[in-house]
Amino acid sequence: MHIEYSSGFIIYREKKGVMEFLFLRKSNGDIDIPKGHIEKGENALRAAIRETMEETGLNVEPDKFFSMRRYYWFRFKGETIKKYLTVFLSRYLGGEVKVSPEHEGFEWIEPQKAIAEYSKKHYNYDHLSEALEYLEKRSMLEELNSAYSELPGKVTGWELSKKFVKGEGPSNARIMVIGQAPGATEDDTGRPFVGRAGRLLDELLKSAGASRKKVYITSVVQFFPYGNRMPTESEVNACKPFLFNQISIIKPKLIITLGSLASGVVCGVSAIKSNHGSVLRKDGTTYFATMHPAAAVRIKSNMPILKGDFAALKPLVKEALSDKKEKE
Ligand code: URA
Repeated sequence: MHIEYSSGFIIYREKKGVMEFLFLRKSNGDIDIPKGHIEKGENALRAAIRETMEETGLNVEPDKFFSMRRYYWFRFKGETIKKYLTVFLSRYLGGEVKVSPEHEGFEWIEPQKAIAEYSKKHYNYDHLSEALEYLEKRSMLEELNSAYSELPGKVTGWELSKKFVKGEGPSNARIMVIGQAPGATEDDTGRPFVGRAGRLLDELLKSAGASRKKVYITSVVQFFPYGNRMPTESEVNACKPFLFNQISIIKPKLIITLGSLASGVVCGVSAIKSNHGSVLRKDGTTYFATMHPAAAVRIKSNMPILKGDFAALKPLVKEALSDKKEKE
């Protein structure tokens, strides 16, 4: 058996509210995204950027959170070939499309139409539908975040920071992590979990088989409570609808709650010190309640508890990612 590696880009644009993907048309009439072989010494992203430039003349700007890899089999001259394809996503940055001689031309096609045409030939490619779902969910999250960021101006007696720390990660993530509220570093940077607790979280996720880039990270309250105090009940109640809306847009397979606030609000698990490691399954989603990494940063004796919980999380992470990574 022969193994081949290729990569490419889905390039999208929105014209008058209508989404379109860029396709190249081959001489046999088939459409395809710009993609090609990964050469020796190249990684998938470099190869995809080069192939896209060679086949379309366009520069691309890879989306921070979208990349997917699939494999499929095909037979060529009597040989079975296993082909890995990694796909990235870029907004159309403008510029003239200059098609390479191996193609007949190019077309901007609405995703559903393209998916129908593509799947006639490539029944095992689902990167177009995945990209479409990702973009739709991303736009819903943007709308939600824009309303959420205006909450301080709408609530009388607001005592949290007014700086909104938005959730971070792929809009179609299979795994979601929910903390308590941003700390001072998050308030400074505008990003969740980037302080000491955040660095520990990254390590713990890695130990459980999940890279941070593939996980959506958010908190029950997304404004810094000065002094790192526990948010009040009314602050939690004001923020809760935005948290549950994030969950219903993203629809993760696995939700990890960190600490007593998130575990209580999302899983109904109280007394996290004794109930850490609780697993709940509801409506196709698995919930895992554990301690907050900040508790292990502050009190070292909590570290083995947290590490043990993340070791126990490993099979749940695998299950959540199982049909996502690769399929025939
Ligand atoms: N701790 C949290 O609970 N959330 C953050 O965003 C950062 C630290």
